[in-house]
Formats: sequence, C-alpha cells, structure tokens
Amino acid sequence: MARPVYRTQDLTKVYGSGAVTVEALRGVDLDLPSGEMSVLLGASGSGKSTLLNILGGLDTATSGRVWFRDVELTGLDDRGLTAYRRDHVGFVFQFYNLVPSLTARENVALVTEIARQPMDPREALERVGMGHRIEHFPAELSGGEQQRVAIARAIAKRPDVLLCDEPTGALDSTTGVQVLEALDAVNAELGTSIVVITHNAAIREIAHRVIHFADGRIARIEENARRRAPAEIAW
Ligand SMILES: Nc1ncnc2c1ncn2[C@@H]1O[C@H](COP(=O)(O)OP(=O)(O)OP(=O)(O)O)[C@@H](O)[C@H]1O
Ligand SMILES: [Mg+2]
Repeated sequence: MARPVYRTQDLTKVYGSGAVTVEALRGVDLDLPSGEMSVLLGASGSGKSTLLNILGGLDTATSGRVWFRDVELTGLDDRGLTAYRRDHVGFVFQFYNLVPSLTARENVALVTEIARQPMDPREALERVGMGHRIEHFPAELSGGEQQRVAIARAIAKRPDVLLCDEPTGALDSTTGVQVLEALDAVNAELGTSIVVITHNAAIREIAHRVIHFADGRIARIEENARRRAPAEIAW
C-alpha cells in the first residue's frame, strides 16, 4: 500500500454525557493510502460525517489516535488543528456556501488571498470545468455549477486532502456526474487524496477504494480493480 495519508487506531467518538450518550464511532482502524479517491458508504447515522470531521480536524475523537502522514492529529491542540486545516485540508459539503454577492472568481479569491501557495482562481475554476463562468454570480449558476465553484474554492489553496460530505447529495444525476468529473480531475491531475461520503452506491464505481460503514465501525473495504469514469455512471 502507498504511504497512508491517514491512519486511525481504535478511534471512538461519544457524543453527549451522562445518561444520554451516542456512540458515533466504536473503534475505527483505517489506513487510507495517499493519492486515492476513497468513497465512504453507509446508512444514515453510521458515523461517516463524524469520521470525516475528525480526519479534517473539525472535531476531536473521544479516544484512539489519528495521524495525517506523520502528524498525530490527536496530539494537537486547537491552534494546531486550525493550522493543520488551513495548510492541508479542503472541504466540500452538500450545500455550497458561496457568497451570493461575489462572482465565482471572487468566491475562489477569498481563499487564495490567505493561502501560502495559492492557485490562480481562474486556474482553479478551469480545473473543474468552470473557466467559462468565472464572472457569474452564484444565483446565475446551476446547483452542479455552484458545487464546482465550491470545489475550485477548496482546491485553490492546493490542499493535500479534499474531504467531501455528500457533494452530490442535492444534485440530479447529470449535474452530479459533472461534479464527480471535477473531483476525478483534481485527484488525477493534482494527486490530491480525496474522501467522498455518499449515500449513492453508484458512486462507488469511480473510487479506488470503498469503505463500508455500519454502526460506527468499518464493516468492510473493497478495492476497485476496474474503476469507471464518472461519465459511465448514472443514478
Ligand atoms: N453533535 C452531535 N451530538 C449528538 N449526537 C450526534 C452529533 N453528531 C452526530 N451525532 C450522532 O452520531 C451518530 C453518527 O452521526 P453521523 O453524522 O456521523 O452519521 P452519518 O453516517 O454521517 O449519517 P448521515 O448519512 O445521515 O449523514 C448519529 O447517531 C448521530 O445522531
Ligand atoms: Mg453525514
């Protein structure tokens, strides 16, 4: 296996305290190879977002350990996690959270202004197939186009990992496929490690690796010997 980008050891997460607690993660041991596109599948409530948020440094584990490359995230304080997120992680969520009063280019530029080695916003937008709409406002774009602008914003700081929580959850098949093509291009051309949470089993076809989640644990992992191109799948 390629050098892991993430490794977890007996990771648990318990929400709440006292009599009302939820065990969202119940001992997750995972090695995620660098440079892959991984898909995380599992029923609602199985812990997918909880795991992604801990990998991304948005949340902390209750017990167990997590490493990003050689850095133990479970050993970092809030400042350390903030720096880790800023320098290494891009996030894409189901809802795009673009600033409505800014154009596509300006939405991306918000991030590149504070990044260390940013991509030109135009390049980021071209990489996700949005080079022709850079001066458009979010309200002038379809949902899939807005999501591609959100991906451009996430990759413009050249993150090592892109963590996507149901990026096609609000999209139909055609526009969803365009979003997956953008993610696939980022993975192939920039070598960014990508983790995609989805409810949509069709999306497993495009992954290098599919991680099945159940009840706060990894139920099984499949390696995909024959990946399909996003254009070959539909739902
Ligand atoms: N902030 C929170 N406080 C309390 N319980 C939470 C919190 N966040 C998540 N949970 C609980 O933890 C469990 C795992 O939630 P999580 O959001 O990780 O699931 P998921 O697999 O992402 O589900 P979905 O597919 O519906 O997004 C669920 O039982 C959920 O209710
Ligand atoms: Mg979730």
